[in-house]
Amino acid sequence: MPQRWTQDELKALVGRAALRYVVPGEIVGVGTGSTVNKFIDALASMKDQIAGAVSSSEASTERLRAVGITVLDANAVDRLSVYIDGADEIDGQGCMVKGGGAALTREKIVAALADRFVCIADESKLVATLGAFPLPVEIIPMAARRLGAQFASLGGQAGVRQHAGAPLVTDNGQWILDVSGLKITQPLAFETMVSQWPGVVTAGVFAHQRAQVCLLGTASGVRELHFD
Ligand code: 5RP
Repeated sequence: MPQRWTQDELKALVGRAALRYVVPGEIVGVGTGSTVNKFIDALASMKDQIAGAVSSSEASTERLRAVGITVLDANAVDRLSVYIDGADEIDGQGCMVKGGGAALTREKIVAALADRFVCIADESKLVATLGAFPLPVEIIPMAARRLGAQFASLGGQAGVRQHAGAPLVTDNGQWILDVSGLKITQPLAFETMVSQWPGVVTAGVFAHQRAQVCLLGTASGVRELHFD
């Protein structure tokens, strides 16, 4: 009989399950978000077995340090064996939409350092086609209007993400556009195109840095999907 988990319990379940991908003695890449927070809590039990972490946000850095894990600068490492992060959406090929927590640029940088991206998510994140979740795009503020028009030409509606009545400012000092109404049927081509638009810092489509593994929290436990 399937168990009734809350969404929070599913996040904790996949957060713990991700420990099996952490390589003892090595540095682990750590993403951002509520699911990753569960992973960081679980990683605390292995803190003496790892050489530290490279973090994708100020929020994750603070949480990692609070549990006693050393955080290293991304420039201090040549490569990582694994990067563990959540997603707002993931499709059947491991392509994702990310950036709900506004950390997409650093997430993409750390993911690019890693041999393997392990996505941790509850099953509500698995979709046939990316785009139901508004696409986060980190931008240079002066490009907001022009980029809004470019997304409109694709059928999207872009809005600058707000926080406390003003544009939210990312860890990198930039803004986030959230674009709804897109149907991203070719994630790789879409990411390549949008990434070239002047003023785009990072598009929240992760197709070039897609996941190789997804640990999906489901009513019957952790489902493991492999994409390579
Ligand atoms: C942050 C992200 C997160 O991974 C994504 O928003 C999922 O977050 P959560 O685990 O809280 O659902 O991309 O920029």
